[in-house]
Amino acid sequence: MQKGKFITIDGVEGAGKSTQINFIFDYLNNKGINVILTREPGGSDIGEKIRALLLSADSNMHSDTELLLMFAARNEHIHTKILPTLAQGDWVLSDRFTDASYAYQGGGRGLDITRIAQLEDWVLQGFKPDMTLLLDVPVDIGMKRVASRGAKDRIEQEDLSFFKRVRDAYISRSEQYPKRIKLIDASQSAEHTSAQIQTILSTL
Ligand code: TMP
Repeated sequence: MQKGKFITIDGVEGAGKSTQINFIFDYLNNKGINVILTREPGGSDIGEKIRALLLSADSNMHSDTELLLMFAARNEHIHTKILPTLAQGDWVLSDRFTDASYAYQGGGRGLDITRIAQLEDWVLQGFKPDMTLLLDVPVDIGMKRVASRGAKDRIEQEDLSFFKRVRDAYISRSEQYPKRIKLIDASQSAEHTSAQIQTILSTL
């Protein structure tokens, strides 16, 4: 069924995803590719409501609830937006996807990876991004960028050690899936990051 390509961008907080997503969107448009921009958690009506619940600073919840809500939002996202868009031949660019659940809920919260994999099998049934761009930045640099943005959401309020575990989990996933997940050094200027992304995208 899939005709378009599915690209995801991921990484720790403050890696510069927003700037690079706009760069990729313009780059693909200039190549004449129809691409939609979307995000997780969110990307659908129900998904955006779940996002508000997940990120609200006063939503205290059990870690398993957090994981289940991420996958509930993802299920809605896949069925209402991602698969229909790919089926009509357009491309989808998502700001975060399943790798974030392995990094944040697996690495950060310490949840059992085999349970995350079970949910992935159940919800995604083998569906995967064609390419994942992983923006990597040392956690202290990323968190300084986040601090300059103002009020922090519920997950951004976690401590440095949480984000170090998140980063380590992302890096080990990129080592586990080197063909799909492209690790990009995002510690320097935005232009430096965009240049690396452009080189990688030109291979698609
Ligand atoms: P962001 O889109 O502004 O980066 O915020 C989304 C937050 O949600 C971010 O802290 C990462 C987190 N997240 C997870 O913990 N698990 C997930 O599966 C996804 C998609 C995001």
